[in-house]
Amino acid sequence: MKVIQVDHYKQMSEKASDMLFESIKGEKNLVLGLATGGTPVKTYEILTTRINSEKVDMSTVQTINLDEYIGLDAKHLNSYHQYMEDHFFKHVPISPDQTHLPNGVANDLDAECKRYEELIDTIGGVDIQLLGIGSNGHIGFNEPGTPFHETTHVVELAKSTREANARFFSSDEEVPTHAITMGIATIMKSKQVVLLASGKSKADALKQLIEGEVTESCPATVLQNHPNLMIIADHEALSKLSKSTLEQIEANNYISST
Ligand code: GLP
Repeated sequence: MKVIQVDHYKQMSEKASDMLFESIKGEKNLVLGLATGGTPVKTYEILTTRINSEKVDMSTVQTINLDEYIGLDAKHLNSYHQYMEDHFFKHVPISPDQTHLPNGVANDLDAECKRYEELIDTIGGVDIQLLGIGSNGHIGFNEPGTPFHETTHVVELAKSTREANARFFSSDEEVPTHAITMGIATIMKSKQVVLLASGKSKADALKQLIEGEVTESCPATVLQNHPNLMIIADHEALSKLSKSTLEQIEANNYISST
């Protein structure tokens, strides 16, 4: 695992967008795994500006998102479809047939999960998967206790996740109770994982991820087993790491898997 420590949210966003930009510019047929939430908002903003100012060709890029709420259609203000439109897709030269998210209003949700998992394989697997992290250690919507072998599936959201995401909705009751998410096994198939974290509320989860034991009760810890994981996190998010881990990160931006 590689850990890049930055000073603050903006710097995290700049580093992440640089990385994504170079891949979009340099790799043909790139499959980009995308995340939602508050964390990557600025990353998408900076990335959008760079793509447009350098007139980058995105015609061979495919994007595939981690998750979608069940019960919200693509046009719903709080759907992740709409989030991606607002923060990225509508600002860059990419067409709807190049972008993929699970359908949260599919009649047959199990069939939808299967379709999504197969789609990922059909387009060649994810090259770079962008991730945020929940304060309870969830990735995508894989809540604590999710078996590591799960592929794309339906989840019931944890109370803490619904509370954390209520800030995007006009009332707590509107926050969906379920979602479709890529599973842990799906995420682990990605060739590279880039996880972003900013702020104190992520410090416990990051400590677990970097220093803790690998356990299904903190889903993000599985990433210790990923051969190509990069974490870009600010001081606050890394503030609970032990002194020796921090020294190692500061010395070379890198610590090996635990
Ligand atoms: C959400 C998303 C995750 C996201 C996480 C953290 O529930 N499903 O993909 O990484 O929670 O969100 P935020 O970046 O807003 O803290």
